[in-house]
Amino acid sequence: MTHPVPKPLASRQPSAPLTGALRVPGDKSISHRALMFGALAVGETRITGLLEGEDVLRTAAAMRALGAEVVRVADGQWRVAGRGVGGLEEPADVLDMGNSGTAARLLAGILASHPFVSIMTGDASLRKRPMKRVTEPLSACGARFVTRAGGRLPMAIQGARDALPLDYVLPVASAQVKSAVLLCGLNAPGLTRVTEKEATRDHSENMLRHFGAEVDVQIEGAGRIVTLRGQPELRAADVVVPGDPSSAAFPIVAALLVPGSKLRIEGVGLNPLRTGLFASLREMGADLAVENQRLEGGEPVGDIIASYTALRAIDVPYDRAPSMIDEYPVLAVAASFASGVTRMRGLGELRVKESDRLAATAALLLANGAQVEIDGDDLIVHGSGRAPVGGGLVVTHMDHRLAMSALVLGLATEQPVRVDDASFIDTSFPGFVDLLNGASGGEAVALHSPWD
Ligand code: S3P
Repeated sequence: MTHPVPKPLASRQPSAPLTGALRVPGDKSISHRALMFGALAVGETRITGLLEGEDVLRTAAAMRALGAEVVRVADGQWRVAGRGVGGLEEPADVLDMGNSGTAARLLAGILASHPFVSIMTGDASLRKRPMKRVTEPLSACGARFVTRAGGRLPMAIQGARDALPLDYVLPVASAQVKSAVLLCGLNAPGLTRVTEKEATRDHSENMLRHFGAEVDVQIEGAGRIVTLRGQPELRAADVVVPGDPSSAAFPIVAALLVPGSKLRIEGVGLNPLRTGLFASLREMGADLAVENQRLEGGEPVGDIIASYTALRAIDVPYDRAPSMIDEYPVLAVAASFASGVTRMRGLGELRVKESDRLAATAALLLANGAQVEIDGDDLIVHGSGRAPVGGGLVVTHMDHRLAMSALVLGLATEQPVRVDDASFIDTSFPGFVDLLNGASGGEAVALHSPWD
């Protein structure tokens, strides 16, 4: 639970045009799941392209603590020797999930149907985040959870001996909650069913099938009913992790905002339940092309070419939120350069991310001279058609995506944008700063301490 050494950084501006080709690290959602499903399968799962960010390394450590053999073979290449469904063993110590809500909530699902006691904690950000959204549905399988007040970590989990299958209607659009229920259902007899009113990312469903489980998905309007047959024998399978579209978002927006840029981002995951940002940017007039589309490890992948564009404001509908839930801070940055008023609707879930991202995104822009309002669950950005002045200090609240959004903003503002602590970028995007520097030829986006 040690807090990394704070890393104050600033974007020096204006940046030289961003050019060339680059790759972003592996998809965070898929990386967590590959390690977890690998640990629950029989045999050896080989993973390539795993995100080696702090969040995923926490999952790797947790699966090891639960008895799976998890080995790093080379850069991004990992091997997991699984224990089979229901085969994990009681951990000898507290499971520390660091900054990662996905790791904590998905693991809660696994632990709920393993008949032993475990204790889970996280860093100061994760210990503020609500766990009731998983402990409540998971309790119905027979598991017991003891949390701090408000359903916060640390929590103790007594997993069910003979878990019951769950039938749950998601009250919030959350792939984490959906996945927790499905993971619990893996070690319960019969059918586990999750109904979601709005489709959320379906990596768990896809990967469960890839490992041999029987998963049925019925589409109902904008939502889905997912049914899993419990106690399958999961068979080890190779997983190829695509580039994370949520990480690609940052260099893509940077290229759109810095005049003269043309950047190619290779091998980006294009699962349609993750591409809401790209749809929104296109509506804003962004020059975005996709080439080399293909299927890799069962997920659609392509190269994205982003070129500088003068953007225009749009209205982002409520029902797009699940497919771009992590991308609103950087979209808000883009909107602050656009001409006109952009309204992003239905962002209530942003309040319970790594920080209160709704308030923090507004504060990020306000500190740098943009005009922003929060209206209920909507974020409204008044773009002037040119770069905000910049010059602000952004408080990142242990939130990687706020830090990256602020640094992207600072590539194109008149004054440098400073962030109080960029160390959390390593949770999802190790190498982010070097990658921006490389794309700009080194100097123009050199990052420096605000006290230099
Ligand atoms: C994730 C689901 C989303 C997303 C998070 C990753 C996942 O969270 O914000 O970064 O891998 O299932 P919610 O389920 O809370 O929306």
